[in-house]
Amino acid sequence: MTVEDIRLRKGDGDRPATDEAEIDRLVRAFYTRIRADAVLGPIFDGVIGDNWEPHLLKMIDFWSSVMLTTGRYKGQPMRAHLKLKQVTPEHFERWLTLFRETADAVCAPEAADRFVEKAGRIAESLQLGMFFKPVLHDPSR
Ligand code: HEM
Repeated sequence: MTVEDIRLRKGDGDRPATDEAEIDRLVRAFYTRIRADAVLGPIFDGVIGDNWEPHLLKMIDFWSSVMLTTGRYKGQPMRAHLKLKQVTPEHFERWLTLFRETADAVCAPEAADRFVEKAGRIAESLQLGMFFKPVLHDPSR
């Protein structure tokens, strides 16, 4: 085993664990599953309608920025999700389950773990913005 192997395995080296081709495959496979999902499919289709290709290209840019730090994605995910009033924490659970399954099917194990870890952190912060109600935790009440 070389030093390079160890770095790649730990995921803390200079070389990314994924590449553009894998991101493209993962995003397309993931949203194919999302659209086929009885619960999440209608939520996405309700917003995106027949306009899936631009959404997929945006999500490919997003993951390219997250995983390869290319800076191609310039959007505001929090703002986009705050508009989705019907979405619940259970939907996020389902989203993450489908993402894990897709990443395991499409990517090498180290890459799958890194995608899932990033997705989990972003899901956490989106949910804080969407569902956290400070008043419920106000000790003076
Ligand atoms: C139950 C969970 C989720 C649902 C139902 C959901 C749904 C959606 C929908 C419907 C859009 C399109 C919004 C629009 O065009 O106005 C969108 C955009 C987006 N989502 Fe999610 N999402 C979820 C979780 C996540 C997670 C966990 C991530 C990141 C790991 C993510 C990243 C994004 C990004 C980057 C966009 C593009 C925002 C933009 O327009 O710039 N989403 N999502």
